[in-house]
Amino acid sequence: PSNAIRNAEVGAAVTSQPAASREVIILFGSQTGNCQRLAGSLSRKLEEQGFQVTLSAMNNFKPTALKKVENLLLLVSTHGEGEPPDNARIFHEFLYSKRAPQLENLRFSVLALGDTSYEFFCQTGKEFDQRLKELGGKRLSPRVDCDLDYDDSVAEWFEGVIGALNANLIAPAIAAKVVQAAEDAESQEPLYTRNNPFKAEVLENLNLNGRGSDRETRHLELSLEGSNIQFEPGDALGVYPENHPELVDVIIHTMGWNPNDKVPFNKKGDEGALREALLHHYEITVLTKPLLEQAAKLSASNKLSELLAPDRASELKEYIQGRDLLDLIQDFSPWEGPASSFVAILRKLPARLYSIASSYKANPDEVHLTVRAVRYEAHGRERYGVCSVHCAERVEPGDTLPIYIQHNPNFKLPTNPDAPIIMIGPGTGVAPFRSFLEERGELGVEGKSWLFYGDRHFVTDFLYQTDWQRMLKDGVLSKLDVAFSRDTEEKVYVQHRILQKSREVYEWLQEGAHVYVCGDEKYMAHDVHSALLTVIQSEGGLNPEAAAAYLEDMQQTQRYQRDVY
Ligand code: 2AM
Repeated sequence: PSNAIRNAEVGAAVTSQPAASREVIILFGSQTGNCQRLAGSLSRKLEEQGFQVTLSAMNNFKPTALKKVENLLLLVSTHGEGEPPDNARIFHEFLYSKRAPQLENLRFSVLALGDTSYEFFCQTGKEFDQRLKELGGKRLSPRVDCDLDYDDSVAEWFEGVIGALNANLIAPAIAAKVVQAAEDAESQEPLYTRNNPFKAEVLENLNLNGRGSDRETRHLELSLEGSNIQFEPGDALGVYPENHPELVDVIIHTMGWNPNDKVPFNKKGDEGALREALLHHYEITVLTKPLLEQAAKLSASNKLSELLAPDRASELKEYIQGRDLLDLIQDFSPWEGPASSFVAILRKLPARLYSIASSYKANPDEVHLTVRAVRYEAHGRERYGVCSVHCAERVEPGDTLPIYIQHNPNFKLPTNPDAPIIMIGPGTGVAPFRSFLEERGELGVEGKSWLFYGDRHFVTDFLYQTDWQRMLKDGVLSKLDVAFSRDTEEKVYVQHRILQKSREVYEWLQEGAHVYVCGDEKYMAHDVHSALLTVIQSEGGLNPEAAAAYLEDMQQTQRYQRDVY
């Protein structure tokens, strides 16, 4: 139906049943921007149908206002060991606190984003779902948990919640029609997306580390010409890699398969050669519990089903760690059935996200990346990071890489160009700060800037050294402090430099500096957080609680942002 007819139908139905509310609150908790983007897209769909939507990040929503909410749609991702995203934490804590209100009037539904290769899969979404129920809310439609390839699950949840919201307003038959119309409605998504990547030509691929370094970090420059793609500093680039051909060939050989066998590439019905499928379409380097459960049905040995027994959960977790598809097929042979039934149980090969290392304004039609090759040994075999080693070993100028922009609203330069910025980015964590500073240089911004950088050795591992020196000379970068951890007897890290410059760091904070941290989440970001607390405590003369509140406030007001992984 046309919009006019559809609205007329909806309008007629509403007047006869004025009780149910057309007001919908959509709250998201998003770290890398996925939930935020999906929330935006859901909001547009609902608005097209005449709902009054309030869309907000959880930290911008006054939790006590929840009492008055009738329809709540909540989208949230899970990080690390089952933690909420930074902008969901306070709201999450509130719901579990004594101050949480009873929510008998609330109807809600939760979309949980996660990754089945993590133990605490979709933990945060599950907690919100359970907690809202405990507080008296009623589920509008069931929670949906999404793995990395979330498109189908998201569509299912959208359909569920849109259907349920409409069903509360109007007769079910019309509701069904409206859902269909929503799906047909024009999307405002950009041309090139995760599902339709742009093939970007590689212009440069250089090793940034000097001879003799134990690390290899590639600087890639890709062309965006003809794509209409643009981005802001802080955004990330999704790159679809190719699996390692050696690993693919060994898998095919071990299984005794024919590399040219026809197999499905996806659930849409595309198909092609098995070798191509394993190179470009399926994940073969990560094991997950759902995958093992599926595989158990194809294994002629009982060993796999035995390992999946409930009382062996910790053993299973241990087994999955650091192993890949080759381990699985070697450890639980013999296998039954054709290659096509095996590939059908694999996850889609996900894109890898890299923080963009260049400014679009400074380098129009280009995007630069800083990619560290991940190579290590585990379970008696050399292992490779899929995308980083692909870039390091098999990508040359002239080749193309399928890419898309992943906007990151949670890692953005201050809107006030005069605001000082403090950037903390050891290793490849420095990438977005090259983008930040290039952008500020291009725009002739006045605000001062301070970079804390660290890596192993000054001589071989000082990424973009000449760029920083030029920026210091031009005044685009005001201060640079470096920590080379393996040049001295005692390790020095960026947080040690922060502590050494404690007084000045605090002065900058008091002047309204924005603080950015990029890089390793588990150790570095955690230690830097503690160092910042120490600075605030000692220089501000605050007790630990007050210092924590100071930093928390900076986080809630987007003055302390992290892009950590
Ligand atoms: P290391 O490898 O010598 O321990 C970039 O990887 C830099 O981050 C390296 O110098 C690395 O030092 C350092 N690094 C390792 N753990 C860190 C931590 N917890 N905090 C800050 N930097 C860390």
